[in-house]
Amino acid sequence: MEVQLTEIRKQFGPVKANDGITLSVPAGTIQGILGENGAGKSTLMKILSGFQPADSGTIQLDGQTVHMRSPADAIKHGVGMLHQDPLDFPPMRVVDNLLIGAPGRIIPRREQAIAGIGELARSLGLALDLKAEVGSLALGERQELELLRLLWLGARVLILDEPTTGISARQRQELFDTLRRLAGQGKTVLFVSHKLEEVQDLCTRVAVLRQGRLVGEALPPFRVDKLVTMMFEREVSPAERVTCSPGKTVLRMTSAGAERGRVRFEGLDLEAHTGETIGLAGMEGSGQSLLLEVCAGLTPVTGGRVYLDGADITGKPYHQFKKRGVAYVPATRLEEGLIPGLSLTDHFLLTDKHPGFFIKREKGRRLARERIVEFNIKGAPGDRVESLSGGNQQRALLALVKPGSRLMLFEHPTRGLDVESVIYLWSRLKERCQQGEAVIFTSSDLDELLRYSDRILVFFAGRISGPLDAATTTVDELGQLIGGSQWTGADTAAAAGGAGGGAPVAGGDGHA
Ligand SMILES: Nc1ncnc2c1ncn2[C@@H]1O[C@H](COP(=O)(O)OP(=O)(O)OP(=O)(O)O)[C@@H](O)[C@H]1O
Ligand SMILES: [Mg+2]
Repeated sequence: MEVQLTEIRKQFGPVKANDGITLSVPAGTIQGILGENGAGKSTLMKILSGFQPADSGTIQLDGQTVHMRSPADAIKHGVGMLHQDPLDFPPMRVVDNLLIGAPGRIIPRREQAIAGIGELARSLGLALDLKAEVGSLALGERQELELLRLLWLGARVLILDEPTTGISARQRQELFDTLRRLAGQGKTVLFVSHKLEEVQDLCTRVAVLRQGRLVGEALPPFRVDKLVTMMFEREVSPAERVTCSPGKTVLRMTSAGAERGRVRFEGLDLEAHTGETIGLAGMEGSGQSLLLEVCAGLTPVTGGRVYLDGADITGKPYHQFKKRGVAYVPATRLEEGLIPGLSLTDHFLLTDKHPGFFIKREKGRRLARERIVEFNIKGAPGDRVESLSGGNQQRALLALVKPGSRLMLFEHPTRGLDVESVIYLWSRLKERCQQGEAVIFTSSDLDELLRYSDRILVFFAGRISGPLDAATTTVDELGQLIGGSQWTGADTAAAAGGAGGGAPVAGGDGHA
């Protein structure tokens, strides 16, 4: 289906999120939508998929002007949007999830529907078990399910807004293969991403937005550096690897174990030193987040000891960890990190400990203004956090981490950030490391892990590798370990020792 957007405008207060965007996307295209944080990408996609109306402008599908007042309206016209967090119902079976949005008359013919959906899945090469419970599916599979649902409802234009965060490399490949097949059938795909290598690999056209306007388009072969220049209107060079000289031991764990649901590890010895950055690699849900929670004091260890700056704080509550300088930034911005309904100023006040309401108000505004400049947040002190763009929410979250902590714990710190912001953020974190802080972070981006970590721990099925020296590890080696192969030598020996579900851990604190 051909999509024609003409002069689309959308303003929020003083912000022109979309400032007269005209874009045509031929049928069968995989259209990349690029642009810095706050450029207006999600706004445009939400307009096209009926989540919000444009102030003005027209949408044409195969030459017909359409008016979409809701997502249901949009899907009737053949436009469906895949959200980053799938909108499914976990306790239901896959098939019921699919039928829920289907037109009423289909429900009685359940068997027929199952056959039809099965066929659709097979034609796309998707091996989805229709009788499985949704809750048992991995994030990537739930995305496939959502994709199937949209197709089942008749989507011929598919919108994906940053779909590859949190899914494994294999699932990403599967998703891309599916999208290619769909484009081959004449469907149109709009793909929003900050991962330029993915865009290069997948897309057949690219449009670049900047400050609400379309500033450029490109056809393959794409050059990543050219795309970056288009996005930022200047060259952006990747950061050099900074090698640290580790100082004092900040965090020490001995034979530590922890458990949450099906995820557990035990016998972990680990030291983190000032100046040091430790990356935690592995598929989502392999224990990396659990380790961060243990380091933050949010989950108690089931065995072993935890020391902070030499003091034994095993089993102490979260606020003790916090008082001793542990800062924790979770991944889910609007669930655990930021509070919808509150402004940036409110957030700075909440994270400040000095009493006195009036003084605080003014102080909060001042802090907010300072941090907005420092972290280059597109927003005002009084803006509610949920009105910020995805990348700007992430910047706000990071801005809440007060300088002068000892140990900073980050879950996917650069998720949703544009290329330039990633470089900027890490330069700030590295500065803080040099001033005596340590960083432990998770990431699903292998390049990020290798570029910014000093040492990397790989998590796989309850096992944790011995620390790898990031400077001498290749992307391939890291990818293999994450996928569960190449667990040889010391790692395997340690793994066997942990048989029975435990976690073998190679000794923790040696530096390369
Ligand atoms: N509901 C809203 N209320 C107020 N401002 C909004 C709202 N939605 C978006 N904006 C503003 O519009 C601008 C564009 O936001 P949008 O979410 O489209 O950016 P984006 O290109 O998707 O960025 P990112 O890469 O960070 O996700 C931002 O400045 C944002 O703060
Ligand atoms: Mg966005």
